[in-house]
Amino acid sequence: MDKGIIKLAPSILAADFAHLGKQVGEAEQAGADRIHVDVMDGHFVPNLSMGAPIVQSLRRATRLPLETHLMISDPDFFLEEFVEAGSDSLLIHWEGNNNLHRTIQRVKALGKRVGVVINPATPASVLEEILQDVDQVLVMTVNPGFGAQHFIHTTLPKIRRVRQMIEQIKPGCDLEVDGGIDATTAPLTVDAGANVLVAGSAIFGASEGVAAAMKRLGAGANQKKM
Ligand code: DX5
Ligand code: ZN
Repeated sequence: MDKGIIKLAPSILAADFAHLGKQVGEAEQAGADRIHVDVMDGHFVPNLSMGAPIVQSLRRATRLPLETHLMISDPDFFLEEFVEAGSDSLLIHWEGNNNLHRTIQRVKALGKRVGVVINPATPASVLEEILQDVDQVLVMTVNPGFGAQHFIHTTLPKIRRVRQMIEQIKPGCDLEVDGGIDATTAPLTVDAGANVLVAGSAIFGASEGVAAAMKRLGAGANQKKM
């Protein structure tokens, strides 16, 4: 596995939307690798969040790649809209998608990076046949739908399994984790094989400020890699 730097993907779900450009700018300055945008439809998950207009505004506010995590029932209806708005990668859930391979090929045809997402109760084995087609796997470490939830520790063995599968089938594929990632849990996920960490409340909700929170998160995570 690439022993490079652990990448941080701040999730704007926890940001102050009245100052979104400023907060994302702070994350960019502090070395964020990408910005994570959580899209929820109140159906696939029991919460509403944001849509393509936010991506469009962010596109003008940062040079960082924008990754869009689609927690929606019919992602196929919205792929073009998010790509036109400025998404650089689209993360598609395995759950509820009867034609996952087709959705993934459509994202690739739009010229964007694509990732597959699995929920805490979904086994790593569902990735076996699709792994070769994706740039990224996102293992949810909470049940999707809300920020600031507790990290689910039973996802750690699965992260290890996914890392093994990636090394065998698609070396270079990113392994990202999302939910309850903070200075305590980040090193556990890195030890298990994650190389991209999504964090919302630990970055934008931190009283010490965005830059200091990212530094602390990154330092703990990278120490685990050495
Ligand atoms: C949860 C979202 C996460 C969320 C993480 O459904 O997918 O990206 O923003 O928030 P924290 O880091 O606060 O758990
Ligand atoms: Zn997310």
